[in-house]
Amino acid sequence: MPSKPRDQSLTILGIETSCDETAAAVVEAGRRIHSNVIASQTDLHEKFGGVVPEVASRRHVELIVPVIDRALAEAGITLAEVDGVAVTQGPGLVGSLLVGISAAKAIAFARRLPLVGVNHIEGHIYANFLAHPELEPPLVCLTVSGGHTVLFYVPDYGRYEVMGATRDDAAGEALDKVARVLGLGYPGGPVIDRLARGQDPTAFDFPRAMLDEGYEFSFSGLKTAAVQRLERARKSGQEVDVAAFAAAFQEAIVDVLVTKAIRAALDKGVPRLMVSGGVAANSRLRERLQQEGGAAGLTVYWPPPELCTDNAAMIAAAGYFRLHLGQRSPMSLNAEPALRLR
Ligand code: KG4
Ligand code: ZN
Repeated sequence: MPSKPRDQSLTILGIETSCDETAAAVVEAGRRIHSNVIASQTDLHEKFGGVVPEVASRRHVELIVPVIDRALAEAGITLAEVDGVAVTQGPGLVGSLLVGISAAKAIAFARRLPLVGVNHIEGHIYANFLAHPELEPPLVCLTVSGGHTVLFYVPDYGRYEVMGATRDDAAGEALDKVARVLGLGYPGGPVIDRLARGQDPTAFDFPRAMLDEGYEFSFSGLKTAAVQRLERARKSGQEVDVAAFAAAFQEAIVDVLVTKAIRAALDKGVPRLMVSGGVAANSRLRERLQQEGGAAGLTVYWPPPELCTDNAAMIAAAGYFRLHLGQRSPMSLNAEPALRLR
């Protein structure tokens, strides 16, 4: 295991299609982003209030070639200057993953380039290594997105120990669901974040499941409590202050995330805590982690917002590390919808 996988300036083409973003990026030496193209499908899925897998994979098929072409053009290179191809293998929607994997295989085969399948969650973790060149393990990472809520202990590059994960809903999933019931559209996390700013988060009372025990999470009880509260209000014709409601709901999620993440880092005795995944863009989560993590003697890291949500630069960065170690995926590489990181 190299101490710092940075001593070779390989240029990697990264491809990410695990959910509803078609993304391609060119990253040099695992840290320098030459292009990072994301074609979002949110407009397409908005009217359904969530991602429709069939619709997503069809749109990926339409977008994948133009998105890769644009990533190369923006980087000012051709495929002749690419040293390897990294693609998300899972977890994600199988039909979506297969589009990116097929494109990656075609390019790798035609250009005789090394191919490597990347775990999407490892990509989210590498978004931080991209953003912070000085950041090194050991550290604790909270990965929190629409599909995942996991606390990892990262003793070294490429090594992951799951300290705890959600037993039911991911934090982003709960935010999106409650936002939908509030009529805020999809994805709702960023809207709740915006509405909650400057609000009193104590105007509504929500449960904080398992706050004082272990590193596991549970958000489905909180989600149901919020939905039922709204339904009761609607039935009785009671007006709900949407911004105050959003703030209180967000605060319940943030409370649990902040408490457990800080405790995990202190228990492992590491001075660094990093946050990754779409919900890491949340301003209240950032503010509280900064304050409370700082007070506990931790340095807290997160990627800039554009690297928090799904993107291919993070896949290229994680892929660079694996290729650098000599890892290669065979042409039989297949999508793994439930791929675990360990
Ligand atoms: O990482 P990501 O793009 O996709 C998954 O791998 O799931 O995360 C998307 C999730 C959505 O649930 C979205 O609502 C949430 O991240 N999200 C946010 C914010 N920006 C994105 N949640 C709270 N506050 C935000 N600012
Ligand atoms: Zn993601």
